[in-house]
Amino acid sequence: MSYEDVQTCASFIREKLDGPVPAVAMVLGSGLNDLADSIENPTILSYADLPGFPKPTVEGHAGRMLIGKLGGKGVICMQGRAHAYEGHDNYKLAFSTRVLWALGVEILVLTNAAGSLDEEAGPGSLMAITDHINFSGVNPLVGINDERFGPRFSDMTAAWDKELTDDLRKCAEQLSIKLHEGTYLMAKGPNFETPAEIKAFRVWGANAVGMSTVPECLVARHCGMRVCGVSSITNYAAGMTGNELTHDETMEFGAIAAVNLGKLLKAFAEKVA
Ligand code: HPA
Repeated sequence: MSYEDVQTCASFIREKLDGPVPAVAMVLGSGLNDLADSIENPTILSYADLPGFPKPTVEGHAGRMLIGKLGGKGVICMQGRAHAYEGHDNYKLAFSTRVLWALGVEILVLTNAAGSLDEEAGPGSLMAITDHINFSGVNPLVGINDERFGPRFSDMTAAWDKELTDDLRKCAEQLSIKLHEGTYLMAKGPNFETPAEIKAFRVWGANAVGMSTVPECLVARHCGMRVCGVSSITNYAAGMTGNELTHDETMEFGAIAAVNLGKLLKAFAEKVA
């Protein structure tokens, strides 16, 4: 996946668009597919048609790029993403984010489904991601570095943009939506965690756990995009309730959180796009 491959895909997308490419992109996580329905007059491109794009294989991930308006402002909506647990090579997980960068996207909003480690943030609630822990062993930046994307050693001190997170906070406040905040920990999956792992992650300072998002943040920061994010809490993490965890449960509560997340993303687009 060279710099040229990224540019080829970006040119392909540009040719399909009439107007300018929006500067804001949003990635929709598991169970959040329907949020894409709010995009007005979208140009819809299937990942399968985008040269070089890894194809998502999970139910609940549509695999489409929608370019249109949200809250009257131009946005790119990524409906579905490739996950490390699907067996994609590390470097392939960089591709879609780099294409967004090559298109001129400056602000990347990452969403996901996550399990909560906090009693107060139950299923159906939302959490703004203020920092992350990469426990996945996955890093799309491993390998020869092409300086045209970014430096060999990229800084992650302010990976999750404070101003953008503040904007999310203000939008949530205006909408009377409770927005929790915390650290997102990425586990590679595909299995859910053990109760012992969750206990350990809590000691480390994790507030939510999921199987995505961190690769996109790493790649976006490497090439200088600003990043913010929201987890839709679909369940209490393993061992917290005595119940077993299922993908169906994550889909069910994802749908509940999605209602508020849809409102929040629309307000955010109005504010920053
Ligand atoms: N763990 C990991 N990923 C998840 C979870 C979880 O509890 N819930 C939704 N995605």
